[in-house]
Amino acid sequence: MLQKIVIVGASSGIGRALAVELARPDRKLGLVARRASELADVAAEVRRKGGHAEIEVCDAADVEAAEAAWHALKERLDGVDAIVYAAGVMPDVDPDEFNTAKDQAMIAVNVIGAIAWLNCAAREFQSLGRGVICGIGSVAGDRGRRPSPVYGASKAALHTYLESLRNRLWVHGVRVVTIKPGPVDTPMTHGKGAMPLMVSAPVAAKRIAQALEGGPEVVYVAWPWRYIMLILQHIPSILFRRFAK
Ligand SMILES: NC(=O)c1ccc[n+]([C@@H]2O[C@H](COP(=O)([O-])OP(=O)(O)OC[C@H]3O[C@@H](n4cnc5c(N)ncnc54)[C@H](OP(=O)(O)O)[C@@H]3O)[C@@H](O)[C@H]2O)c1
Repeated sequence: MLQKIVIVGASSGIGRALAVELARPDRKLGLVARRASELADVAAEVRRKGGHAEIEVCDAADVEAAEAAWHALKERLDGVDAIVYAAGVMPDVDPDEFNTAKDQAMIAVNVIGAIAWLNCAAREFQSLGRGVICGIGSVAGDRGRRPSPVYGASKAALHTYLESLRNRLWVHGVRVVTIKPGPVDTPMTHGKGAMPLMVSAPVAAKRIAQALEGGPEVVYVAWPWRYIMLILQHIPSILFRRFAK
């Protein structure tokens, strides 16, 4: 069993539900996000379940802060067995909007922050010869759709980065897991209208917790999405641009 797990983006939604799901007396969690009070609430919930939680307030988009926070947590947890990068942002984007500042802010958290944190873990786990690295991608990264070009591109970049880490690190005994949730009921999706096959954050967290311990390394949280995305990926672009939203 994985005993020391860092969750980046633990203050809300999927990361928060995962912390609660993973909480148990023989496990230590490192909880990272920007909002200290939300993190304190999550830590209290973990402790109510008998677990141990250490908090690190950190902006994932700040690469130097990520490096320092990783080392601080590693010391306080007395080592790390697994890391889950769950931090992410998905601002609303108007159909006719092309806003580079907004896009850059998305890339900073969804891609650069992931690379900063997961590179720290990759170096550590490579030298230890064990460990689990997990990133929360999205079905949105499987095909370039209209609503949010850079959100989808950020998840596609994360998927490819994780695949490369997997191909590098398997010889060192390190598992690299890519989670592709479909819609999950969290603050990120509130107010965005009805979404198909939506699951709750605790259901997503349970599936992610299973995936950390073993099984396939690319996981669609709700299984129909694997087949839906397989079909969508094979629709020729000339048709996809006309019919897919
Ligand atoms: N909900 C969905 O339907 C869905 C579907 C597919 C994929 N995902 C992915 O799942 C992940 C979690 O999303 P969610 O639905 O749980 O969203 P959420 O409830 O909005 O939570 C986002 C988390 O990311 C953290 N975060 C955002 N910016 C950060 C920054 N600069 N530094 C550190 N932490 C930061 C937030 O913490 P602070 O604000 O406290 O910093 C929060 O803990 C994201 O990567 C998202 O893209 C979600």
